[in-house]
Amino acid sequence: MDTPETPAREESNAKVIRLIRPSVVVLCGPAACGKSTFAAKHFRPTQIVSSDQARALVCDDERDQRFSAQAFALVHCLIEQRLSINRLSVVDSTALTPPARKSLQDLARKYHVPAVALLIDVPLDTCVERDTKRERSVGRPIIERQHHLFEQLKSSIKQEGFDQVVELRDEDLDKARFEIVFRPVPRSVSPPERPERRRFASRRAHHAAESGPTADEARAPSQPNGRPPESA
Ligand SMILES: Nc1ncnc2c1ncn2[C@@H]1O[C@H](COP(=O)(O)OP(=O)(O)OP(=O)(O)O)[C@@H](O)[C@H]1O
Ligand SMILES: [Mg+2]
Repeated sequence: MDTPETPAREESNAKVIRLIRPSVVVLCGPAACGKSTFAAKHFRPTQIVSSDQARALVCDDERDQRFSAQAFALVHCLIEQRLSINRLSVVDSTALTPPARKSLQDLARKYHVPAVALLIDVPLDTCVERDTKRERSVGRPIIERQHHLFEQLKSSIKQEGFDQVVELRDEDLDKARFEIVFRPVPRSVSPPERPERRRFASRRAHHAAESGPTADEARAPSQPNGRPPESA
């Protein structure tokens, strides 16, 4: 019987992939294999957490690799906030190194949601050809190196502990269809404090330290009967 845990099944030529919301879906594939195109076709823009977009947000240039650490900090932050309110996160990055995948799996574990690896398996020459046709090309040497990492990943990823590993070849990309099952995780955590509240709270504390007791502290003490003094 099919369950949401069974990754994919054929149905009238379509490759149906069942996902649970919330979960972390990690796209894996070399540059120009078509990850962003595929994600945009199947998911809402807000469900896609893209390392390129995060890089653009932090440093104004999605290609500037000097700021990848900051970009991934933002990627992780967005995923955490989305998972904390039971949203799906489709992570659009190459995810070609074990530590990159592990960090995303760790977020999924922290929020008790499934981690899914979605491998976009496109031949090297096709990636290179797609790369040459796009505005922002990265060049054959980078794609070759990334494709090599991807080939290694294909044989090792099943041992990495993903709840689901889905492999899509180039010819599957157009046939893929997603079914998303909503299975919320009960959360007892309180929402993060808003920064401006924190700022005002720390300003109040600072002010109090400098100017003596707060209004509450300065209020005249209650009478033993619990009522305020007559003059208050
Ligand atoms: N299934 C497809 N068939 C034909 N062309 C495609 C397909 N998917 C993507 N492309 C084209 O290939 C190019 C690369 O696609 P895309 O930007 O989605 O790759 P990517 O994997 O996100 O690359 P990067 O890792 O560099 O962000 C684009 O010009 C896109 O239009
Ligand atoms: Mg992309």
